Amino acid sequence: MHSNNKDDLPFFITRREEELKVSIIQKMAFMILFLLLLLLSCILSTANAQPRNSSISPGSSLSPNNNSYWLSESGQFAFGFYPYGNGFSVGIWFENIQQKTVVWTANRDDPPFPSDVQLLLSTQGRLIVRSKEGQDLVIANTSDQLASSAAMLDSGNFVLFNWSSGIIWQTFDFPTDTILPNQRLVPPNKLVSNVSETNHTSGKFVIVMQTDGNLVQYHVEEANANTAYWYTKTYEAGNGVTLNFNIHGQLYLLNASGSNIKNISDKASVLKAAYRATIDADGIFRLYSHTLNQSDNWSIEWSSLDDKCSPTGLCGLNSYCNLIYSDPVCQCPSGFDYIDRSQKNLGCRRNSSVDACTTKGEPSFDVHELIDVLWYADAYSTLSSIEKNACKEECFRDCNCEAALYENGNCKKLKLPLRFGKRKSTIGATSFLKIGAQRGKRKRRELRMDIFISSIACSTLSFLVLAAAGVLIHRSRIRKYKRIVNMGNVGFVEDVTLRSFTYNELKVATNNFKDELGKGAYGTVFRGVISKGKRVVAIKRLEKVVDEGERDFRNEMKAIGKTHHKNLVQLLGYCYDGTNRLLVYEYMKNGSLADFLFKSKLRVNWEGRIEIVLNIAGGIFYLHEECETQIIHCDIKPENILMDDKGYAKIADFGLAKLLMPSQTRTYTGIRGTRGYVAPEWHSNLPITVKVDVYSFGIMLFEIICCRRKVEADVPENEAVLANWVYDCFKANELEKLVRNEEVERCKIERMVKVGLWCAQDEPSSRPSMKKVMLMLEGTVNVPDPPLLSSFVSSP
Ligand SMILES: *[C@@H]1O[C@H](CO)[C@@H](O)[C@H](O)[C@H]1NC(C)=O
Ligand SMILES: *[C@@H]1O[C@H](CO)[C@@H](O)[C@H](O)[C@H]1NC(C)=O
Ligand SMILES: *[C@@H]1O[C@H](CO)[C@@H](O)[C@H](O)[C@H]1NC(C)=O
Ligand SMILES: *[C@@H]1O[C@H](CO)[C@@H](O)[C@H](O)[C@H]1NC(C)=O
Ligand SMILES: *[C@@H]1O[C@H](CO)[C@@H](O)[C@H](O)[C@H]1NC(C)=O
Ligand SMILES: *[C@@H]1O[C@H](CO)[C@@H](O)[C@H](O)[C@H]1NC(C)=O
Ligand SMILES: *[C@@H]1O[C@H](CO)[C@@H](O)[C@H](O)[C@H]1NC(C)=O
Ligand SMILES: *[C@@H]1O[C@H](CO)[C@@H](O)[C@H](O)[C@H]1NC(C)=O
Ligand SMILES: *[C@@H]1O[C@H](CO)[C@@H](O)[C@H](O)[C@H]1NC(C)=O
Ligand SMILES: *[C@@H]1O[C@H](CO)[C@@H](O)[C@H](O)[C@H]1NC(C)=O
Ligand SMILES: *[C@@H]1O[C@H](CO)[C@@H](O)[C@H](O)[C@H]1NC(C)=O
Repeated sequence: MHSNNKDDLPFFITRREEELKVSIIQKMAFMILFLLLLLLSCILSTANAQPRNSSISPGSSLSPNNNSYWLSESGQFAFGFYPYGNGFSVGIWFENIQQKTVVWTANRDDPPFPSDVQLLLSTQGRLIVRSKEGQDLVIANTSDQLASSAAMLDSGNFVLFNWSSGIIWQTFDFPTDTILPNQRLVPPNKLVSNVSETNHTSGKFVIVMQTDGNLVQYHVEEANANTAYWYTKTYEAGNGVTLNFNIHGQLYLLNASGSNIKNISDKASVLKAAYRATIDADGIFRLYSHTLNQSDNWSIEWSSLDDKCSPTGLCGLNSYCNLIYSDPVCQCPSGFDYIDRSQKNLGCRRNSSVDACTTKGEPSFDVHELIDVLWYADAYSTLSSIEKNACKEECFRDCNCEAALYENGNCKKLKLPLRFGKRKSTIGATSFLKIGAQRGKRKRRELRMDIFISSIACSTLSFLVLAAAGVLIHRSRIRKYKRIVNMGNVGFVEDVTLRSFTYNELKVATNNFKDELGKGAYGTVFRGVISKGKRVVAIKRLEKVVDEGERDFRNEMKAIGKTHHKNLVQLLGYCYDGTNRLLVYEYMKNGSLADFLFKSKLRVNWEGRIEIVLNIAGGIFYLHEECETQIIHCDIKPENILMDDKGYAKIADFGLAKLLMPSQTRTYTGIRGTRGYVAPEWHSNLPITVKVDVYSFGIMLFEIICCRRKVEADVPENEAVLANWVYDCFKANELEKLVRNEEVERCKIERMVKVGLWCAQDEPSSRPSMKKVMLMLEGTVNVPDPPLLSSFVSSP
């Protein structure tokens, strides 16, 4: 700036003169600058038609070809065409986030636009897409009101204004699958999920802000209480409840008079730059945050459900959802096949035709039993207070029955297709499905008149029954919805009763960790008392936990807490407090199986030992195949089997391996588990599967048979390594040596030994599954002779 004043002159005079001069020069400079800027902006705006914020005036247009869009003032959001399928769609996305994140789509169920269309705020004031042929498609239905301008706001809202700057249309009023901070979901609006992550067509799941005040997630085709899989329990708050989302990334409900009636997610501890809440294609409503750091991804702040099988109908007809390592997998019952193997969530169909009627001859079908799978039972007939086998029998004889669901003494007879199947280990339900017979020769039945007549009678009758049932079902559904609404509980909704303790509570409970019960691979165990002195518990203080953060820890705890089986030690609670990680278990006062087998003066008799073996096998089978999240124990050994006061064996320490391992694949060098019980694949690069537990079980089975440790020093050399000695005795047909002076039938010992030898095979795939092991132990299937093995010749 021009200001070289003469310092010797009085300040005031100089100042006025100077000001005059300066102002003239300034004005000229500004004029030139202004003209330059004007020119520049003209050049810029033709080169890059992306007006910031400022109103978009009638006549403005965008085209998919030149990649133009309208930006919000800060540049965070853009409105325009984005590539989709083999064309383009109109929508809003985060422009400052590398990973393309679309938050709104116009006419999402329409096919993509070709590249020669134009998006236009017409001079009449309509927002339309105009085709090359001049046909218009309305993007913003403003009824008879006309827009004088439009704007892409920094909130992510695209709005149309009238002449008096009133908002006549905004995308915030027509959400697709996402809401943004400051956006509100008013009743009866809803968010509908995408079909998939790459296809924004309306998918299967909705989250609805209901007029009764409840925010509910449903399967889109069946919005009733039976298919609700998540809700806020605010059905008494009445009409006018809205879902709100503030700039701190908190989701909450306000009632009609503006009071906060429920916080859905907690206020974030660290404020992030961007938030969105989306009902994802998998049916889970998630709150995401982003730091706007280009290298970052969206991270999940909150989600409506952890169990990915919870969304009702994730899997198609006749298939059921099974969690495998917390990922949902759609599976077909046996006798059924995927409709499309490449798209497993499309459902399954029977792979052979079944004539569901039994006649005097041999039936053309088998009844397959499926354990722990729950279906949405739209039964045409329900029989109550009935035994499981009677249920199977009922369905077997009923021509209309294609499947039956047995649960708590109720037998529901169903027709195909079965819907909304999910596997849930805690429910104890059994389904029976009629499937094509596996027998080679199927008897051809001649069409006989009597069968023909009876089948006509049968179907007429069933039609009447069905019609009546239809009315009843409809009624009962309405009733049920009311009832459930009143009770505020739906079977599908998670109910986790794990208690979270503070460190101080547990310090008090254990009397400052005085009474040590033992030390294990994962930490030290103390005796403690909770519930005001009413309940004795075992408290395990974990050491060496790989700290993946509180959320992961809690998820692990939840997975463990959800296991309920009579042969598993029950987890009652946990503590995640500072650096302290403690687990609270039921107390097992009779010590471990190791004490029982190796220390006790009194030897447990053969029958008792077999009972223990069956208990343990049942527990491991549950961990591997029946519980919601498959659990590999990784450390099966007598020290980890505890005995309760009724003499039941229960497995302890399951589910912990994951907490102590950085990942499923071993990237560490130390070997978990205890030397001698560990399967050979721990030492190689083979993946760790459930078969490692089968191996350890096999070694432990030898110990239980022989009541001695796997390796012992003070015995003849050929007997030192138990597995080798067992194998030698088996080969030499001298099995009675193994049980010393006990009177046990040879065939019983042989069965146990053979099962053990199969389990201890080097090759993981040669080892049987725990299910097979159970069947073999129980004598339900024969045990073939195990093959000769190198590892039994040399020392393991
Ligand atoms: C941007 O849009 C907002 C909201 O309409 C308005 O208040 C603001 O004045 C606009 N800014 C400019 C530069 O036009
Ligand atoms: C993009 O295409 C539209 C419609 O054809 C046109 O109005 C606009 O000027 C184009 N912008 C650029 C930068 O070419
Ligand atoms: C999206 O899915 C729908 C229905 O599932 C299908 O009709 C459509 O072709 C898909 N679109 C794209 C671009 O994949
Ligand atoms: C626009 O909205 C009005 C009422 O909101 C409705 O009656 C009309 O059918 C809509 N038009 C189109 C083209 O969707
Ligand atoms: C503009 O829109 C506002 C809000 O919708 C409305 O109140 C107002 O009457 C409208 N003005 C005109 C001139 O249509
Ligand atoms: C929905 O589909 C669109 C593809 O048009 C994709 O960009 C977006 O990320 C999808 N949203 C979700 C939540 O998967
Ligand atoms: C909203 O909630 C507040 C506090 O719970 C209550 O006093 C008020 O009556 C509620 N308003 C309506 C309309 O239900
Ligand atoms: C919701 O959380 C806010 C803090 O973010 C708190 O002030 C408010 O009391 C909470 N409301 C309810 C109903 O818990
Ligand atoms: C972005 O991430 C890098 C590396 O994680 C970090 O150094 C940087 O400070 C981050 N920037 C912002 C703005 O958060
Ligand atoms: C973001 O996601 C990509 C792809 O899913 C992944 O490769 C990358 O590591 C992730 N970045 C961060 C910081 O998590
Ligand atoms: C049906 O599928 C089962 C496997 O699910 C298979 O074993 C059987 O051979 C199939 N039968 C036919 C007729 O395809």
